[in-house]
Amino acid sequence: MGRPKGKSDLATLDAVTRWRLWLTTAALVVSGCGGPFPQSTLQPRSDFARATDVLFTDIFWWAAGVFFVVETLLVVALIRFRHREGRAAPKPTHGHTLMEIAWTLAPAAILVFVAVPTVRTIFATAGEAPADALKVDVIGHQWWWEFRYPELGLVTANELHVPLGRVVQLSITSADVIHAFWAPPLGGKRDAIPGQVNRIAFRATDVGDYFGQCAEFCGASHANMRLRVVVDSDSGFGRWATVQLTGPAAPAPGTIAERGKAVFARSACVGCHTIRGVSPGVIGPNLTHVGGRTTIGSGLFPNDSAHLARWIADAPALKPGSLMMRMQPPLTDADIAALVAYLESLK
Ligand code: CUA
Repeated sequence: MGRPKGKSDLATLDAVTRWRLWLTTAALVVSGCGGPFPQSTLQPRSDFARATDVLFTDIFWWAAGVFFVVETLLVVALIRFRHREGRAAPKPTHGHTLMEIAWTLAPAAILVFVAVPTVRTIFATAGEAPADALKVDVIGHQWWWEFRYPELGLVTANELHVPLGRVVQLSITSADVIHAFWAPPLGGKRDAIPGQVNRIAFRATDVGDYFGQCAEFCGASHANMRLRVVVDSDSGFGRWATVQLTGPAAPAPGTIAERGKAVFARSACVGCHTIRGVSPGVIGPNLTHVGGRTTIGSGLFPNDSAHLARWIADAPALKPGSLMMRMQPPLTDADIAALVAYLESLK
């Protein structure tokens, strides 16, 4: 009603406001181009991820070509056949056999060029892993990841270590609801489904720390169900595995860490968490070497004393829905400090 007829809202703005709007929009659009991109599939770091990246690039250029041809024809038609005073209406074409054959064959040919590499990549990335692949069982839990290395006899949580250059085969399942394992720089997603095992195999090509994420909505803290994949050099992986299989050393007598171990043993902690030689709980993550991890809370927070203390005091405040309840009766600050010292000693 209040708007002048035939004019958009934009046209009624003064020039300065209009420029401000354009600049703000441009800034917002361009800000999406800034890095870093810790979970990008466009920076492949494994043979699997490279194969899908090559396929994506290939299909992108086919799509760009189609877009260019279609838009060019559209713009030419708009300009050439637009209405002008005194000009007769253009004559439509009917039943042009050559044109009809051309616009049937051209898309069919393009689809062949898209389908053949797609199917080839699907088969290449879904095949059996070689017999000497490193096998890891991946189990999704609300809301954390368990990693078991059956051949090495070790169990860890949320930070998956793999060696550079060796094929790793993940056998993925779930302990409760459907999750999906996804470490974008290393390869595609696989659903983690209770009672079913899905596999994925890749060979990492670059040493580094890579972020991952549960990729299937699984409840309150789905977005907080993160993970890290640490690609170690061959010798680095060997050292990590050796450390996981030995120790950790018991805290020295009289230290605050030793008091923390006593707090752990008499609290609800033992009902849920395994610490080898101390407690057998299997509901929460295995904490045998928790002090050696870089993050806590399934990749949510840095593994430092401040975050550990906050986590122990009230995990659901940091991760909504966390099964790790506030302890009743609450631990004293001194107990929490001792527990933190103990957990940090478990390298
Ligand atoms: Cu687990 Cu989403």
